[in-house]
Amino acid sequence: MPATPFAACDATSITLADGRTVTAFGGCNYMGLSNHPRVRRAAAEAMERYGLSSTASRETTGNAVPHDLLEAELAHFLRVDRALLVPDGYLANISACQGLAAAGCTHAVIDSRAHSSMPDASRTAGLAISRFEHADQASLARALAAIRPGRAVVMTDGVFTADGEPAHLDELLNQLAPDDRLLVDDCHGLAAIGPGGRGSVAHAGIDDPRIVITSSLAKGFGAAGGVVAGRHDDIARCARAVAYVCTTPIAPAMAEATRTSLAILQADPTRVDRLTANAKRVRAGLVSMGLLPRVGTPPTQIAAFITGPLAEMQQLNAALLTDGFALPLIRYPGGPAETFFRLSVNAEHTPRQIDDLLGALAARISAPLPARDALPARNPSAGCAVG
Ligand SMILES: Cc1ncc(COP(=O)(O)O)c(C=O)c1O
Repeated sequence: MPATPFAACDATSITLADGRTVTAFGGCNYMGLSNHPRVRRAAAEAMERYGLSSTASRETTGNAVPHDLLEAELAHFLRVDRALLVPDGYLANISACQGLAAAGCTHAVIDSRAHSSMPDASRTAGLAISRFEHADQASLARALAAIRPGRAVVMTDGVFTADGEPAHLDELLNQLAPDDRLLVDDCHGLAAIGPGGRGSVAHAGIDDPRIVITSSLAKGFGAAGGVVAGRHDDIARCARAVAYVCTTPIAPAMAEATRTSLAILQADPTRVDRLTANAKRVRAGLVSMGLLPRVGTPPTQIAAFITGPLAEMQQLNAALLTDGFALPLIRYPGGPAETFFRLSVNAEHTPRQIDDLLGALAARISAPLPARDALPARNPSAGCAVG
């Protein structure tokens, strides 16, 4: 069931249907760019110029100037041969798998905690699927040995959706055979981590022609769309995939919005530093409350934790809303429990906003929670935190 809708938002707050505005720590607008005045203006101006949709596939009549420009700029940003624009991140994985299957890959070897779009995409492309235990090198080695002489596409999130854990891409890459590929779904890393926001692959310090990057453009860039990026011959195959050829591209206005987000990010790399500082601040606070382990993976903008049994967490979620904070309690695969708090910060959150949330959380955890029947039946933010 969808979450209770919000009626308005800016980068750090949402207005609920009842008119209350609360500070929000959910969603994937990691750089705050979805609400940036220049990004919104770029979209509005492009909408005036191009209308709402390009109304046809790019291979027929739907290719607009911003689509071509965005592809070139993303390729330059990611330092790859070519980037292919597709309608969204889900279709980016499908296009990548269809393209890599056409290039001769036979098997998808997928991290057990990878986003559900990856097995879906593999099935659509006719790749045989096997899984390896999350981030477990020995398990990956066994899975790869079992598929030989097949050619593998090893698949992982760059930053795991549910809890923000960064993948060990260098270790995965080390296990590839010369004709294998490493598909990095960087929906939660692109724009947010790595030098200048160049994503998980740059963050890992690796550069290899066997890497294919896929991502949504709806998260770190705050617009809409998807991208597949890599070397010329692979991306040329992806550009023949049904998922690309037979779909309408993102609106030219969204391409212009993404171009503007990218330009802002490149002109001001301190935006990434602010996000990193915010992520560290959140991590330190949650560790001091005992909600995250002292020793863990490096902090990213996402933190996942539980505070007790489900009923208590639902009460806490509602109590925090009363205090003026939307802290999403979500049910989503890959978290520390079936239902868990997924706290995400973005580059626009101030240290004060973060400290206020942490203070409210600490106070509520040590204070008795209100009676269950005094609280709203539905979690106002569940389900909208992760895409
Ligand atoms: C890791 C991951 N891959 C793919 C997708 C799909 O992207 P989109 O929503 O742009 O289709 C999402 C979520 O939206 C995601 O979190």
